[in-house]
Amino acid sequence: MGSLEEYKMKRVGLVGWRGMVGSVLLDRMRIEGDFEGIEPVFFSTSQAGQVAPDVGQGDALLLDAGDLSALASCDLILTCQGGDWTKSTYPGLRAQGWSGHWIDAASALRMANEAVIVLDPLNLEGMKQALSAGGRTWVGGNCTVSLMLMGLGALFQRGWVQWMTSMTYQAASGAGARNMRELVAQMNKIGDDAKSLLDDPATAALTLDSQVSASLKSRTFPAALFGAPLAASVLPWIDTLQPDGSTREEWKGHVEANKILGLQPEVPIDGLCVRVGAMRSHAQAVTVKLNRDIPLADIEALLAESTPWTSVIPNDKAQSLSRLTPAAVSGTLDIPVGRLRKLRMGPEFLGAFTVGDQLLWGAAEPLRRTLRWLLESN
Ligand code: HSE
Repeated sequence: MGSLEEYKMKRVGLVGWRGMVGSVLLDRMRIEGDFEGIEPVFFSTSQAGQVAPDVGQGDALLLDAGDLSALASCDLILTCQGGDWTKSTYPGLRAQGWSGHWIDAASALRMANEAVIVLDPLNLEGMKQALSAGGRTWVGGNCTVSLMLMGLGALFQRGWVQWMTSMTYQAASGAGARNMRELVAQMNKIGDDAKSLLDDPATAALTLDSQVSASLKSRTFPAALFGAPLAASVLPWIDTLQPDGSTREEWKGHVEANKILGLQPEVPIDGLCVRVGAMRSHAQAVTVKLNRDIPLADIEALLAESTPWTSVIPNDKAQSLSRLTPAAVSGTLDIPVGRLRKLRMGPEFLGAFTVGDQLLWGAAEPLRRTLRWLLESN
């Protein structure tokens, strides 16, 4: 028999559960039965006192996410509320002595010494060491980084990589829920404007193109959030400029991947991050400079076994189109890696393409799994 203490339910505070990542997280927690065995407490920054979502434990009211003592009553806090709330809440909570586990989707704390960037299929050992050493702060990685590592991280862990470039194809969801709506509104505007031309099979392609071009340039084209047309176009800029000319999204690729894997010395990772008109799955094309000529079959075997969610897609057209696209993986935990081949630059140069759902492995899933792991570790 365990002691009463062992059987005490952990009180888990959930903040930012209404947003897109939070909603995906709650869905996954329901599916996986994560609410069984915990006492969930829902917080709100604006609707304290209203009814909390029913997760099978009866009615409860939302608590105030600005109330530090209510937050401090939790054993663990899981937040998808965003970086501003983290910055305004976390330091005060720690300063008043709260020593519970803080699990965070936002980037604000990622590079702090006390924080572990969690991606347990890749760095569970590092997470365990941090927990033993008193670690209490766990942060989900940048979506593009987590998805790249779920696909290709094993190459780094095996010590095969000298450097890597990643050219990304990032979905609208990474910019936020309203941006997804704007993308569809853009598609709709293009379709509406071109409808009569499209309905006429005799319309020449160049005529259709002129109409689409006119729509993209029209003053009524809905682009307030992206700042430019994304539908029928691509945007070669994500986040803010860094001093070296990279964007912050590109900078994260290097610093976060190296931190997650604990690489010493660091392996250079750089590239170009681009927004495309996919809805919620990020893809990326990478060039890997291997440390030596490693046979392609060894690389494929390593990747295929690297995580239960990673699969190697044969380098053929039919399977690449049916299994290696945002459309194919959206809404799933699958991380396909394909287009694997040695490049013309030499046998140490590997090309690959990988894709994954930005809201699942890119955001909610590492947090959900960290919560579960912490509960099971205590
Ligand atoms: N920064 C990412 C993007 C979102 O803009 O796609 C998640 O890290």
